[in-house]
Amino acid sequence: LILLQGTVYYNICSIYHFLSLTIGPKEGWQVYSSAQDTDGRCICTVVAPEQNLCSRDAKGRQLRQLLEKVQNMSQSIEVLNLRTQRDFQYVMKMENQMKGLQTTLRQIEDDRKTIITRNFQELKNKMDELQPLIPVLEQYKTDAQLISSFKEEIRNLSMVLTAIQEEMGAYDYDELYQRVLRLDSRLHNCMGKLTCGKLMKITGPVTIKTSGTRFGAWMTDPQASQRNNRVWYMDSYTNSKIVREYKTMDDFVANVVSRTYNLPFKWEGTGHVAYNGSLYYNKYQSNIIVKYSFETGRVLAQRALEYAGFHNTYPYSWGGYSDIDVMADELGMWVVYATNQNAGNIVIAQMDPDTLEVRKTWNTEYSRRNAGESFMICGTLYITNSHLTGAKVYYAYSTKTSSYEYTDIPFHNQYFHISMLAYNSRERHLYGWNNGHQVLFNVTLFHVIKTQDDS
Ligand SMILES: *[C@@H]1O[C@H](CO)[C@@H](O)[C@H](O)[C@H]1NC(C)=O
Ligand SMILES: *[C@@H]1O[C@H](CO)[C@@H](O)[C@H](O)[C@H]1NC(C)=O
Ligand SMILES: *[C@@H]1O[C@H](CO)[C@@H](O)[C@H](O)[C@H]1NC(C)=O
Ligand SMILES: *[C@@H]1O[C@H](CO)[C@@H](O)[C@H](O)[C@H]1NC(C)=O
Repeated sequence: LILLQGTVYYNICSIYHFLSLTIGPKEGWQVYSSAQDTDGRCICTVVAPEQNLCSRDAKGRQLRQLLEKVQNMSQSIEVLNLRTQRDFQYVMKMENQMKGLQTTLRQIEDDRKTIITRNFQELKNKMDELQPLIPVLEQYKTDAQLISSFKEEIRNLSMVLTAIQEEMGAYDYDELYQRVLRLDSRLHNCMGKLTCGKLMKITGPVTIKTSGTRFGAWMTDPQASQRNNRVWYMDSYTNSKIVREYKTMDDFVANVVSRTYNLPFKWEGTGHVAYNGSLYYNKYQSNIIVKYSFETGRVLAQRALEYAGFHNTYPYSWGGYSDIDVMADELGMWVVYATNQNAGNIVIAQMDPDTLEVRKTWNTEYSRRNAGESFMICGTLYITNSHLTGAKVYYAYSTKTSSYEYTDIPFHNQYFHISMLAYNSRERHLYGWNNGHQVLFNVTLFHVIKTQDDS
């Protein structure tokens, strides 16, 4: 009789495996020690490989899984690559600008007397402003290298996997499996680091369509799979319950409606969000948030947002019953509103997407009525100072550190009046409703460089 000890998987498979005496180092099995117990039974301690490879079938299955995993990683890398390249272009431009400045500055310093002091000071200020970006630049270069090395590793792994499809058994699966695991966890870390960051720049807009009234909302679902690109369209800020769905962005542009939903309750404002197959919106004349399933057409949950002002008590500066703004970012769901308790200043709540319960709140000192719009990226709320021409992102509140800073990030308010601005983390776009035009902005995020105690 055999007793399996140590780092052994106690399952039928491994015992069969042992009995059939096919243990070989190639499979990763090792007899660690053997002895007799007091009853004279033989006790063997074997070290099993982490994956039990019972038969060719199991191997085949495992191989398919590995292939799938590698394919998945390959897709993730493509997304990562695209995003990083986009940010990288911006960073490279900054680098050139910085180099130019540095050269100019050196020349000026060589010949200080001929230069007006004011100009010199201006340049010097600009230089000082750019100085903190140097480590960021270096980080970007490292990131880009990291991604291309990931790409190479994935290519190598795919090649190995394809080659051994013919020749099963002739390969050390355990090693291969470990290789995939290691790569996966490194990639995971890398994505965690690269996908979030601080908002640096907003470019665009690109006008996707011109339709509807001056006020409304449109969106896609950041949780939807890569193949699913449905667009939802909710014209007007009041007295409506009709949601139009389009299969793709192209259909949206061509005005080919695929479905129309008749919501059980009217909405208010434009702070709705599509998230993981449901629509979250503010029920009219109330501070109730409704979760409505697109698939079943049912209300899955509704809950009053405690103390939240509604119906133009604390709207954004443009009014429009925009008191309650539901949003989603990389970290989950949020709702932004204001309360008497916080003197009409913006409150950020983290919300459970299933129960709509508030998990935690943060009180900002920014008056909601003086905010043009706000949107959440990576757990930081960005607030614009107006809905009109000249608006900029003026204030940023980090829920991670519970602190704020003033920012100066301009964006082009092309059609003079913005009644909706929402971030989509999947596409890294800001969706905007710009005076009857549906527009998209790109955002550039700078990865926050992690320090030792900030991991
Ligand atoms: C690959 O991704 C799909 C879809 O996201 C998922 O269902 C599947 O479990 C993943 N496969 C592996 C091996 O991770
Ligand atoms: C990929 O394979 C090539 C050739 O076998 C090798 O030179 C290279 O180092 C491998 N790259 C990585 C990242 O493993
Ligand atoms: C999305 O919905 C599915 C079920 O429909 C659920 O299993 C999953 O946890 C949800 N994801 C998030 C991020 O809420
Ligand atoms: C965002 O940037 C990408 C890559 O530079 C570009 O192709 C796309 O048109 C931009 N989209 C918007 C909405 O600006």
